[in-house]
Amino acid sequence: MYNKEMTESIKKVEANRKANTDFEPRRMTAEEKDTLLATYHPDYKQEEFRTLAVGPNKGGKVPTELAALLQAHSRIDPAKIDLSAPDYDVDVLVIGGGGAGASAAIEADNCGANVMIVTKLRIGDANTMMAEGGIQAADKPNDSPAIHYIDAFGGGHFAAKPELLYKLVNEAPEAIQWLNDLGVEFDKAPDGTMITTHGGGTSRKRMHAAKDYSGAEIMRTLRDEVLNRGIPVVDFTAAIELIKDENGKAAGAVLLNMETDELLIAKAKTVIIATGGAGRLHYQGFPTSNHYGATADGLILGYRAGAKLLYADTLQYHPTGAAYPEQIFGALVTEKVRSLGAKLVNVNGEVFMHPLETRDVSAASIIRECSARGNGVPPADGLGVWLDTPMIEIKGGEGTIEKRIPAMMRMFGKYGIDIRKEPILVYPTLHYQNGGLEIDKGCMTNVENLFVAGEAVGGIHGRNRLMGNSLLDIIVFGRSAGKAAGAIAKETTVGALTLSHVTDFENELKNAGVETDMVSPKLLPDYRRTK
Ligand code: FUM
Repeated sequence: MYNKEMTESIKKVEANRKANTDFEPRRMTAEEKDTLLATYHPDYKQEEFRTLAVGPNKGGKVPTELAALLQAHSRIDPAKIDLSAPDYDVDVLVIGGGGAGASAAIEADNCGANVMIVTKLRIGDANTMMAEGGIQAADKPNDSPAIHYIDAFGGGHFAAKPELLYKLVNEAPEAIQWLNDLGVEFDKAPDGTMITTHGGGTSRKRMHAAKDYSGAEIMRTLRDEVLNRGIPVVDFTAAIELIKDENGKAAGAVLLNMETDELLIAKAKTVIIATGGAGRLHYQGFPTSNHYGATADGLILGYRAGAKLLYADTLQYHPTGAAYPEQIFGALVTEKVRSLGAKLVNVNGEVFMHPLETRDVSAASIIRECSARGNGVPPADGLGVWLDTPMIEIKGGEGTIEKRIPAMMRMFGKYGIDIRKEPILVYPTLHYQNGGLEIDKGCMTNVENLFVAGEAVGGIHGRNRLMGNSLLDIIVFGRSAGKAAGAIAKETTVGALTLSHVTDFENELKNAGVETDMVSPKLLPDYRRTK
């Protein structure tokens, strides 16, 4: 499968393999990391960001692609929308059918609320489904939520909102138990204890996994639970604008049937945005590991309704996206591959970094190796380094790969690459939006009765997230948002519905001199070729 140049490089990788397997590379110092990030991490390229001219974060910087959508026109003309006869009238409206949305719906249902999920694709078409490596929780005797907190706070550059991170780590063990009780088949030892591994930046082995199908297994279970409970799911239907009531509270959404283009009105006492990430905006031209619908819709809906963003200028580029073959360009190669012992090596077969540095540092280190140092592997314009997967079998014994990361083995096997015998080519891929809508510890934004959970939240992880803390946050904050929205719905009376905030935002754009022919939310990426 590999071409001549690659095969030549692989010979050097093979020659060094045994020594590289035994070699323990040193960790970078804090100063080395700072310099590396400032020079090579995409978040530090100032020319790739724009200052917002309107909205609650006016004056703040966000990626150019996101700025264009945040400052675009609405898809609707509020004057033409009839809000007097809603098509749906529920207690809790959940926008998004991934892990956070499903968890929220289950807990709102537990509160006795009348809850409905709307999703622009199908329930489970979400980044949750694509998550591979695992979910963190400090539930082993040598670990504690306090140690989990320190790892995540440091990994996120000390920028996480303390109360959110505190909630994340403290509620983690219970989240694992909840999933286990719902039926998630976590990897367990013969005595029934959970098998846990390290991730980048963890000081304890606290990654719980279901092989390398962790997200799919969690999503399968949550989806079954939602459907078994009979919670209504309106699929292929996107929320394209939030509705408020006359008192400024979130009170529903304008929906677009993606198949018929029909507009529908959903009235609700509380609204939860659980729309996920933004990888399909392909910031700075990066490929992505995200699902097809990851277009930052929730950020747009929330922002136009007055909700503040936090850290929307920070993205996560997963260090190991597939760089070859091109059919899987950008697909996730789980960090678990490195947790199990594979190291990153350059074109000359040299280990150039510790394999479990935090993600931003690892990504920047790979970018440096390929650009400034010129040690990338052809083809792909030298934008790739080897992840030497056969080391896993040397370290863990024959059969480890098939047992622990069968999805990786299958993904590359389809293209004739046997990862037990050959290394794989990787390069950073756009994986996660570290920032999003700001919430309090009750999951509410500054817009009353508007809640957010999952990847659309900003502030839980600070400016970089550790592996396995996202599958965790969708459960912890999804459940919490569902409980809070369900409880508050009981005390809420909805006033007259209005879309005046959409009109106001449009006026703000005009007054700020923003000229654009774009409309948002984007809903789906457009991969058609332009001439
Ligand atoms: O590498 C991974 O398996 C990804 C995990 C995550 O983003 O948490």
